[in-house]
Amino acid sequence: MKHFITICMMVVCSMTANAQQTPIYLDDAKPIEQRIDDAIARMTLQEKIRVIHAQSKFSSAGIPRLGFPDFWTDDGPHGVRPDVLWDEWDQAGQTNDSCVAFPALTCLAATWNPDMSLIYGKSLGEEALYRGKDMILGPGVNINRTPLGGRNFEYMGEDPYLASTMVVPYVQGLQSMGVSACVKHYCLNNDEEYRHQVNVVVSDRALHEIYLPAFKAAVEQGKAWAIMGAYNLYKDEHNCHNQYTLNKILKGDWAFDGVVVSDWGGCHDTDQAVKNGLDMEFGSWTNGLSAGTSNAYDNYFLATPYIIGIQSGKYTTKELDDKVRRVLRLFFRTTMNRNRPHGFLCSESHYEAARRIADEGIVLLQNKGNILPIDRNKAKRILVVGENAIKMMTVGGGSSSLKVQREILPLEGLRQRFGNDVVVDYARGYVGDVSGEYNGVTTGQKLKDNRSESKLIAEAVEKAKNADYVIVVGGLNKSDYQDCEGHDRKQYELPYAQNRLIEALAKTTKRLVYVNISGNAVAMPWKDKVGAIVQAWFIGSEAGNAITDVLTGDANPSGKLPFTWYASLNDCGAHALNTYPGTWRSAKDKSAGFSKIIDEEYKEGVYVGYRWTDKNNIKPTFAFGHGLSYTTFSMSNLRQSAKEMTRDGKLTFTVTVKNTGSKRGAETVQLYIKDIKSSVDRPVKELKGFKKVWLEPGEQKDVDMTIDNNALAYYDETTGTWKSEDGEFDALVGNASDNIMLKSRFMLK
Ligand code: BGC
Repeated sequence: MKHFITICMMVVCSMTANAQQTPIYLDDAKPIEQRIDDAIARMTLQEKIRVIHAQSKFSSAGIPRLGFPDFWTDDGPHGVRPDVLWDEWDQAGQTNDSCVAFPALTCLAATWNPDMSLIYGKSLGEEALYRGKDMILGPGVNINRTPLGGRNFEYMGEDPYLASTMVVPYVQGLQSMGVSACVKHYCLNNDEEYRHQVNVVVSDRALHEIYLPAFKAAVEQGKAWAIMGAYNLYKDEHNCHNQYTLNKILKGDWAFDGVVVSDWGGCHDTDQAVKNGLDMEFGSWTNGLSAGTSNAYDNYFLATPYIIGIQSGKYTTKELDDKVRRVLRLFFRTTMNRNRPHGFLCSESHYEAARRIADEGIVLLQNKGNILPIDRNKAKRILVVGENAIKMMTVGGGSSSLKVQREILPLEGLRQRFGNDVVVDYARGYVGDVSGEYNGVTTGQKLKDNRSESKLIAEAVEKAKNADYVIVVGGLNKSDYQDCEGHDRKQYELPYAQNRLIEALAKTTKRLVYVNISGNAVAMPWKDKVGAIVQAWFIGSEAGNAITDVLTGDANPSGKLPFTWYASLNDCGAHALNTYPGTWRSAKDKSAGFSKIIDEEYKEGVYVGYRWTDKNNIKPTFAFGHGLSYTTFSMSNLRQSAKEMTRDGKLTFTVTVKNTGSKRGAETVQLYIKDIKSSVDRPVKELKGFKKVWLEPGEQKDVDMTIDNNALAYYDETTGTWKSEDGEFDALVGNASDNIMLKSRFMLK
């Protein structure tokens, strides 16, 4: 009896212990890797397969039996995309999925202010949390190689150092909310035309020096939890399953511990997907956005075909377990993070963030005779001209299209600010694209106007005669073949007879301001006939307010161009060397369903953007790094912490910046490095440091910029390593790539 009681007590005790014991994978106190080991050991083959591919347009399955919720993702990168139906591209019709549209990433890059990236990432993360999203498909960091690139507006310009510096805080800010970034499109997706069939041929040097650094920074410094493979090919393999870029570089050299997500419809083959580094497959058979096979998820390359492959012994579970391990890590970082905040949507703080970023990102390109800011004493009548003054830009452009709670349009912003004091009249000037619909979201705007080009121009000219200021708001839009995913622009010129309109207005008025809305440079043959030129990007919800801030001087412009504004297309290396869009040939591997591939050879090598114009002595319309202010600055007294630098040492440059004008403003000090003598051909100079500084009138500050050996190195193709060579270097300091004011020489030993 006694014995029986003892046994009973033991059973009860162990039952209590079991009931109380939290499984390791659920124990927050345990290290994530241990929790992953535990979870993985409990998963069936079917469960493992289920977590590595989509189950709906934007979600993948969790592990319900173990308490892992479904995983939800969404575009990206400028706001949280509205919900579509489970298995359709049609709108889900939610009434709580309107968001704040933040400025496009070109505008963010133009702030040259990493603090703005942090605010951007955090605010977006808060919106994503409220909307129940665990991963945002962004940011994008493909290099602007040609101004025709349809998606450049979603990226951070032409310079690897600028893009690297700006992407890191975005990723950190977003992920600090427990929402994963998904940095895209890795890699070499530098234009859109034939994006599924372009095979990029590029030197190792250009790959490592120009096209990879921003991704590397996002991974190594930003600690991005996910990265999206690009549609195009490199070394004849699609980038969503590419042995070299994913296994060797990303997961090998950079020790990426996150998840490689396919672009939607970017996965083409089970064998390659299994072996070449893809972890999560999304959007297959959707061709990006349009075509679709219903409920195809079980047929995904990483679904049933993979199970069959494992069961038949074709594959072991080695690759599968690695993929699942990464996916679980992503779960623990996001959906299984019990400390995640709840998030909130469309808050005043998010609008404020959007406006601050926009105010800092708008670039004053030209201001002849200081006609800006608008002088309230002279402005009794203002004429606003152009479709972009009244057109919503948050709808369109491809997957980054949004459904916004509000979008202040430029005309509206100006009218609100001037109130009854000033007559703000409007003339259409040109008709562009009046459709205003993307993927089921409609702007509801009625922009149709059947008048002829000449009539529209004549009306604008007539009205301009009585105006104290004429502000043309033009540029591109988010329609196909403009700044839009899926295609590139067909021409560098402004579309819709805008050149004619601007020329005509320039003859009529002395105070002509041109506000360009775009994510790319455009030809400006009339530049010298126009007083002021403002680059106003796609700004999102606060567009009208921010543009008005800058035009009125309520914000002192401080943006700097993140790319070179070529005078003509031929001034850009990719076009001068006739490398775009490439040469067609038969595909070696037809598994992707393409019998033809187009080889696009990046013949200009590392000479992208200002590296090309510098080398060839080409004067751009506006240089990389250029941007004016309503105040003036001086830079003086460049000092360096030592005469020499050692390979493992650092060198700090200090420069005194002074606000010599009468308004508070910001200047961005830019540090370029020039290698005086090198065994390989190197760019004339390369950006290796910058700092933005705000100064009151008359105030001066010392600005420090520190470099290390990385700033001096080039990628040595013979050894496959970064190399810096002993000898002399110049530190060139200025406020634009074509305005170097100070120089100082140092030695590397
Ligand atoms: C785009 C991606 C986007 C995905 C999901 C693709 O067509 O290239 O950038 O994240 O669709 O919408």
